[in-house]
Amino acid sequence: MPSLVLLSRRTFGLISYFSFVALILFTSLAIAQQTANRSTALTDDQVNARVESILKQLTLHEKIGQMNQLGAADWSFKADPVSPQEHARRCDAGSFLWTTDSKLMDQLQHIAVEQCHAKLPLLFGFDVIHGYRNIFPIPIGMAASWDPAMIEKAQSIAALEASSTGLNFDFTPMVDIARDPRWGRIVEGAGEDPYLGAAVARAQVLGLQGPQLGTPGHMVASVKHFAGYGAADGGRDYDSSYIPEELFRNVYLVPFHAAIKAGVGTVMSAYMDLNDVPASGNRWLLRDVLRRDLGFKGFVISDADAIKSLQVHGYARDPQDAALKGFTAGVNMDMASKTYLDNLEGLVKSGKIKESEIDEMVRPILAIKVRMGLFEHPFVDLSKSEAILNDPSHRQYTRVAAQRAMVLLRNENHTLPLNKELKSVAVIGPLADAPKDLTGSWGVENANVGPSILQAVRAKLPNAKVDYVVGGEMKRAFLPVPWIDHTREDAKPMTPEQLAAEVNKSVEAAKAADVTILVLGENSTMSGEGSSRSTLVLPGNQQQLLEAVAGAGKPVVVVLINGRPLDITWASEHVPAILEAWYGGTEAANAIVDTLFGDSNPGGKLPFSWPRGSGQVPIYYAHNRTQAPEDAPDFTSRYWDISSFPLYPFGYGLSYSEFTFTNLHVSSPTLKIGDKLEVTADVQNTGAIGGDEVAQLYIHQQAGSASRPVRQLKGFERITLAPGEKKTVHFTLGKDELSYWSGQTKSWIVDPEQFDVWVGGDSKAPLHSSFQVEAAQ
Ligand code: NOJ
Repeated sequence: MPSLVLLSRRTFGLISYFSFVALILFTSLAIAQQTANRSTALTDDQVNARVESILKQLTLHEKIGQMNQLGAADWSFKADPVSPQEHARRCDAGSFLWTTDSKLMDQLQHIAVEQCHAKLPLLFGFDVIHGYRNIFPIPIGMAASWDPAMIEKAQSIAALEASSTGLNFDFTPMVDIARDPRWGRIVEGAGEDPYLGAAVARAQVLGLQGPQLGTPGHMVASVKHFAGYGAADGGRDYDSSYIPEELFRNVYLVPFHAAIKAGVGTVMSAYMDLNDVPASGNRWLLRDVLRRDLGFKGFVISDADAIKSLQVHGYARDPQDAALKGFTAGVNMDMASKTYLDNLEGLVKSGKIKESEIDEMVRPILAIKVRMGLFEHPFVDLSKSEAILNDPSHRQYTRVAAQRAMVLLRNENHTLPLNKELKSVAVIGPLADAPKDLTGSWGVENANVGPSILQAVRAKLPNAKVDYVVGGEMKRAFLPVPWIDHTREDAKPMTPEQLAAEVNKSVEAAKAADVTILVLGENSTMSGEGSSRSTLVLPGNQQQLLEAVAGAGKPVVVVLINGRPLDITWASEHVPAILEAWYGGTEAANAIVDTLFGDSNPGGKLPFSWPRGSGQVPIYYAHNRTQAPEDAPDFTSRYWDISSFPLYPFGYGLSYSEFTFTNLHVSSPTLKIGDKLEVTADVQNTGAIGGDEVAQLYIHQQAGSASRPVRQLKGFERITLAPGEKKTVHFTLGKDELSYWSGQTKSWIVDPEQFDVWVGGDSKAPLHSSFQVEAAQ
């Protein structure tokens, strides 16, 4: 690699490190100020007394109204002859969704508490998934930071901004475990692992809700989609999930449990059939598992139209049966379908539901409103909103978050970081000058859109010649994006001749430049709800573009913009550097360019196993050992045409620094069930510059009353180390980490067995020790 593209490493990072610390302090102070007059938590008795006194004054219709959430966006009430205002006046709704119009929310709130007889404040729900005005990386990117403190802070900024406009109910976090990246909604979760998923879920709930419901500047969160949505057959969105109870409890429910323990106020029930019973009409799921086993005390809201869809599934006979089945299963609030509003009163009158059962379902809704302090403070001071939305520290923090989400997948011969003295750079690719795609596609209509990657490169290198070629295009084949007018000139696909010309221009630009930054991936409409795929190949002509540009013989750096792993096997063999940047948010482009040019050192790690192609999926590191395990000497492959290993393992990510792990120490060779054990290891930065490493601890149970996964993540910590610096990381292993739900005993157990333990920088970490768990006396 020419020395031209190498950064002078001595100058790396100090400035950015100090500005990072200053920014964190500044942002913390700002948030602390906004939440200074935090209310103290009400006791359960106080809440219950309040709820009972409210309930006594409500008519049956008003109680049912509380269980109804109505759309308030233009498109969502178009078909309804009754306006949202009139619905509010009639006490038909306890909540509205899908509007971010502050004035409308304020008007509806006034009607609800002043004109409707019940005088109950409304909840205003919206998908504030990764920011409201200032957008953070999409959730899979935030998870890749392995930095719960950053995630909590990002979500607290999102809540502060959204709540300043009148929103108070957030349909976030999505914690569905996803092991099949064909499923488009992998972008909204934290990936394949229950332990990482739980840490991310907890951080999101704390960030969104604050330490307790009612904390000013926060919202009530909704953990979704309960449960098993990520296991959709074939990765097809909404398709049935079949999950054995062992897997369900040991994997899929774990992040939900973490969110509940963190105090999440609401749970959203999922769309799909779980083991043949739709999740939103599944009594076992919503009552036995959610309330009895996981201890959830808030309210359950269905996903949009999911109650009505119980009939579509072939589970309910008609809308009345759908209302009865959703209600009996334990869904407190019907999102958007009006099935409760139209049918519950009749069901009470016909004696199929008792009014006391309605009371039982309304109580948790009222309790959340009481805990949120909505009765005392139903209105928002909208005059403060613009200042909050435009707070520069929020936007700056999106840059920090995007930097911390970045995962360096490949960096041969220290290709990165690039030298800022470069004379000429080619920036190529359909996503290189597409700033909107950097914010993702759902819940971002009020977003601050930042610069494109091309603009950010030009700003970083004001004296260089920066050439841009779009290189081609990508479109959703077969199922286009429904909301785009496909007859529009710019929606028409390029002709083969135009595509060939773009590729040729790209090759010429690459030949003429010192370095090419090739931006590849999926546009933001290709990921998310309704965005599943059958393959993971680079869409459009991007593979052809990649091979042509790499063939130009000059250094090429690939930057990936996407919400799922893509088939980059060819790139991983032919291109020296690959940086995973996700849909990184408002300041994504600046964060990418900071990273490419060494003003930020990447430290993110993959929250999923990166497959070589769709034929390998589902693929995950925590699989069970087979009779021909992968570490056996004669193990070759379970496929004859491809390796069984992913392209990059779970937990993997490079840095511009190098790290070593040594001195793995287990505090005792034995451990009694119920006791705790300490595991320590030394991590040293042996590189020339400061950087971050994520120390990860994995365990494996060698025998027992069930086969256990080859490795399971049970601890991690992202640490910052100066060049040469060494730190000891500490992890604790106890009952929580060692137990699993046994299909044999139908309970959580710890087997008195031998365990392996590893600590290192990814799920393949070699540094090993072991300990024996002994039965308690
Ligand atoms: C449907 C989606 O599945 C869910 O995640 C979202 O929160 C609701 N729509 C509301 O927009």
